[in-house]
Amino acid sequence: MTLRVVQVGAGGMGRAWLATVAADPDVELVGIVDLDLDAARAGAAVAGDPTIPVGTDLTALATETGAEAVLDITVPVAHHPVTLEALRAGLPVLGEKPAAQTVAEALSLAAAAEATGKLFMVSQSRRYNDHLVAFRQHVRGLGGVGGLSTRFAKAPHFGGFREEMDDVLLLDMAIHAFDSARYVLERDPVSVYCESWNPAWSWYRGDAAAAAVFTFEDDVRYVYDGSWCAPGAETSWNGDWRASGPAGTALWDGDHDPWSDLDGTPGAPDAAPSVGNEIAGALASFVRAVRSGERPDGEVHGNVMSLTMVDAAIASARTGRRIVIDEVLEQAHATALKDEQDEAIRERLASWGSVRTVAVCVDNGRRTPQRRGPRCCSSRPTPAVAPGGRRGAGSSSVSSSPPSSGARRSPRRARSSRSASRRASPSVTRRRTPPHWRGSSSNRPWWTRSPIPTLPSPNGSQRAHDWPTRSPASCGRAPRSG
Ligand SMILES: NC(=O)c1ccc[n+]([C@@H]2O[C@H](COP(=O)([O-])OP(=O)(O)OC[C@H]3O[C@@H](n4cnc5c(N)ncnc54)[C@H](O)[C@@H]3O)[C@@H](O)[C@H]2O)c1
Repeated sequence: MTLRVVQVGAGGMGRAWLATVAADPDVELVGIVDLDLDAARAGAAVAGDPTIPVGTDLTALATETGAEAVLDITVPVAHHPVTLEALRAGLPVLGEKPAAQTVAEALSLAAAAEATGKLFMVSQSRRYNDHLVAFRQHVRGLGGVGGLSTRFAKAPHFGGFREEMDDVLLLDMAIHAFDSARYVLERDPVSVYCESWNPAWSWYRGDAAAAAVFTFEDDVRYVYDGSWCAPGAETSWNGDWRASGPAGTALWDGDHDPWSDLDGTPGAPDAAPSVGNEIAGALASFVRAVRSGERPDGEVHGNVMSLTMVDAAIASARTGRRIVIDEVLEQAHATALKDEQDEAIRERLASWGSVRTVAVCVDNGRRTPQRRGPRCCSSRPTPAVAPGGRRGAGSSSVSSSPPSSGARRSPRRARSSRSASRRASPSVTRRRTPPHWRGSSSNRPWWTRSPIPTLPSPNGSQRAHDWPTRSPASCGRAPRSG
């Protein structure tokens, strides 16, 4: 049976999604929503059926067409309101990256997914790449990993909003590399020092180049060196990757098969199953997750940390200080709590003891802090795989938000946070698993086990969560950017 979806947003990336949906036999497009009706109509043509219903009201069109799920391919500032409306309408959502415009909004959406019992998956499409999966297999063969780096050099002339926005490289593109680094390292970040700048010949208004050093758990370093103003000898869109460990080095040029050199011997790790290709892989994963109840890669809780890396890097670039990731998370959590006006969502937010514990990895309902093995942020996407409340006006965009709490620290506090961050690594991995993260005999996804309050549906009736409760079966090519 096909999954009936309404797509919201029929712009540049929206058209790529429409073509992908049309090519997927497991999905049926039943409606297109866009503030710009002409864009929606043009989208229907791209989808191959100009008679597909279009509109500007998501809830109305979804109800009219009997939609079972929503694709949110709007601009980042609209991700929170559109996704929240869909979740409150009782519909699972697959949304384009970033999860939301700010980390606070992303946390609010994670809490909304809990409160409604509906899946919200972020399509971090570059994880759906068999070369990336193979690269991680090579990295696993290095006998441990001490450092990972990405060099990204392109020179695209996009025109439009990208050439006007602040922090364009970090905001629009770097999240892909940051998210892939979490996947490859199978760890989460602890702190970052970042500088960003705009080369003299830049055609962007905001900083189009950045260099960041992240400290990950276990004192592992991730170095990102990127530019969108680097004509000549450009890297692939995924960038050039290099990882080193005691047994050797693994390399990936972002376009071809990765390889490793184990001190003179070529690495030959086990092949991993295919994860599909970019947004087609993410869509297949989403459909499978909606049908089976399995937790897909990109489920919002596990994705928040990638957005936090962007926010922390920008805060560091603006303040010249090293930023502790947990401080950004805690600040975002405080903002989310302050701004949230929906009581059920607020309750979920308030129930989180530590945001890191919520935002880092869950593995089919089990936080797995003691072992170094795969976790949600790092587990590969499963092969061929996974309306109403209004927020206060207080949340601000990443690009316009004031520096995070970390950014406002005094130098002394910055130093103590630095040593705290060094200590954070082992403590993070030793942290006791909170009760609601522990696996149960039913082995159901954790959000189906914890008591989930009902939210009033738009027509006023109460709608209990209907996320499947069976046990788990178990950026883009130029000219589009990130
Ligand atoms: N994964 C990738 O490789 C990749 C590549 C490019 C863009 N993206 C992401 O895709 C998303 C869309 O980017 P784009 O380039 O298509 O933007 P775009 O501006 O071309 O299109 C956005 C569309 O959404 C519509 N829209 C905006 N707000 C809306 C709302 N509240 N309700 C209904 N419609 C609304 C606009 O009218 C427009 O048609 C962004 O989040 C972007 O970061 C991802």
